[in-house]
Amino acid sequence: MIALEGISKTYPKSTTPAVQELDLQVPEGSISMFIGPSGCGKTTTLKMMNRLIEPTTGRILLDGDDVTDVNADELRRRIGYVIQQVGLFPHFTIGDNIAVVPKILGWDRNRIAARVDELLHLVGLEPKDYRDRYPRQLSGGQQQRVGVARGLAADPSVMLMDEPVGAIDPITRERIQDEFLELQQIAKTICFVTHDLTEAVKLGDRIAVFGPGGTLQQYDTPDMILTHPANEFVAEFVGAGAAVRRLSLLELSRLELQPVDLDGTAASNGSPTYEADAQGRPVRWAYLPGTADLPKLVTVPRTGTVYDAVDVMLDSQTELVGVVDEQQKLQGALWWRDLVEGLTTKAGS
Ligand SMILES: Nc1ncnc2c1ncn2[C@@H]1O[C@H](COP(=O)(O)OP(=O)(O)OP(=O)(O)O)[C@@H](O)[C@H]1O
Ligand SMILES: [Mg+2]
Repeated sequence: MIALEGISKTYPKSTTPAVQELDLQVPEGSISMFIGPSGCGKTTTLKMMNRLIEPTTGRILLDGDDVTDVNADELRRRIGYVIQQVGLFPHFTIGDNIAVVPKILGWDRNRIAARVDELLHLVGLEPKDYRDRYPRQLSGGQQQRVGVARGLAADPSVMLMDEPVGAIDPITRERIQDEFLELQQIAKTICFVTHDLTEAVKLGDRIAVFGPGGTLQQYDTPDMILTHPANEFVAEFVGAGAAVRRLSLLELSRLELQPVDLDGTAASNGSPTYEADAQGRPVRWAYLPGTADLPKLVTVPRTGTVYDAVDVMLDSQTELVGVVDEQQKLQGALWWRDLVEGLTTKAGS
């Protein structure tokens, strides 16, 4: 766990603090997202966590140890850092850039080579094409991905990431985001700066909303930030899209589905029936209670969220969506009206 206690920073020659009286705890294995307007102290806070910047007052605890005074080099090996400006070494190849920390740690060559390839693969850069190139031969977004790989290289227990996926296309971005969620399952503690509230809601166990003068306005779960903003500033920052953003927090697995039957099977109890292909995957609706007008059968995975279900419904202009498991077998159906109802009854719980 990382704990900041009464941390403040006033830069030399500056009259106003960049960070003020910050108390913040990031529990082990969780992701905290830092968000807030430009210049409100997010980067300064991250840099104090790994002591690239010394706080003016306050102390920092890592797993209960006060690290305000430990050797900073030692500390940084336990903490991976992805900086806001990428900062690759221009005269190192991509592979050598990623290998910096493992080399310092004295890993053997084979282990380093395997790790470099594994990470390049992870961030969507084919190792054999990119390993031996130099940073100037990569696009800005590709360099940023190398920055992410470098931060992860030595498998640190704590990761600090300053807008690591800013200039990356949505698909790669989503893959990296999903990877972060997996990382977190192996108990990595992550602080992650973003300007994207959707990303904060998706990835964060908690969101820290920073305000003017480096003050922490609210530190809470995404759901609480969206539904119970602590003050006017947070409410305005979260903005009008809050209700829609909450849709992505509610997993379909938490909703009760309407039972469905395979067409032609005995149970004809008035529930919807569908036709399936040879593999048992749903193809079309065969019967829906109360309507002769059968919509196209569209599906979402059970692992998805209400946001995904609404997206599919709007996209296909149907009020009904089938929910499928990993084998593409139909588990049940969701109606638009039930979704809305489910939202009002389940979303707060
Ligand atoms: N090295 C420095 N010397 C003096 N002032 C600094 C220094 N670095 C940052 N500041 C100031 O401290 C404040 C906080 O900066 P910081 O970089 O932490 O903001 P940020 O929240 O990360 O912003 P952004 O979203 O634009 O990255 C700003 O007013 C900035 O001008
Ligand atoms: Mg910053």
